[in-house]
Amino acid sequence: MVGFFDSGVGGRCVLDAFRRLCPDEPAVYVADSENCPYGNKPPEEIVRLSKRIAADLIGRGCEVVVVACNTATAAAIDELRNEWPEIPFVGMEPAVKPAALGSKSGIVGVLATRGTFNGRLYRETSSRVSDTVRIIECIADEFVDLVERGVVSGAEAEDAVRRRIEPLIAAGADRIVLGCTHFPHLKHLMENVADGRAEIVDPSDAVARRIAEVLKGVRSCASR
Ligand code: DGL
Repeated sequence: MVGFFDSGVGGRCVLDAFRRLCPDEPAVYVADSENCPYGNKPPEEIVRLSKRIAADLIGRGCEVVVVACNTATAAAIDELRNEWPEIPFVGMEPAVKPAALGSKSGIVGVLATRGTFNGRLYRETSSRVSDTVRIIECIADEFVDLVERGVVSGAEAEDAVRRRIEPLIAAGADRIVLGCTHFPHLKHLMENVADGRAEIVDPSDAVARRIAEVLKGVRSCASR
């Protein structure tokens, strides 16, 4: 069984991508809605919350735990791996590298939370591509709030999306990376606003493929 968790409902886009790929694989999803959002919480608090959820998922028999939250990955994945070295953890990281490789304008927009931008993983990856592309970072906490309220269509969501996407495109970005698992829930609106001027980069399917690979590895070890 695969365990997924996020600060809220955002990470369900990763679960959905995994279900499309492995429809028969049992999965459990924990949304820490009581403590959502994680975006501006101190890393120590996110570590504490993540450990509590991981312990619950592992206790329920999960063979792989997916940290379906960029912010929790940034703050806690090292600590989770230290605490449970026998359990494979799959985390989320903004897909800056593929976006940089695909960009023709040389300008990439990244939408994420403050916690993700401050994390070591993101800082390292973004500095690796900074010779070839310029990255414009944008914190979009209001998207988390919209998605938690289930507002993923209509004027309120469209206006919020337009306010973030238009300035990135005006600044020359032709790739916009979704660095928070709440944001793919608004992807259809982003694509409408972008209207072919920028590609919206959603890592959900790539992460789903990674989870399937990790699961296969766990099973082949167990059968040896
Ligand atoms: N879904 C989370 C992420 O991927 C963050 C949302 C929050 O601020 O709680 O970063």
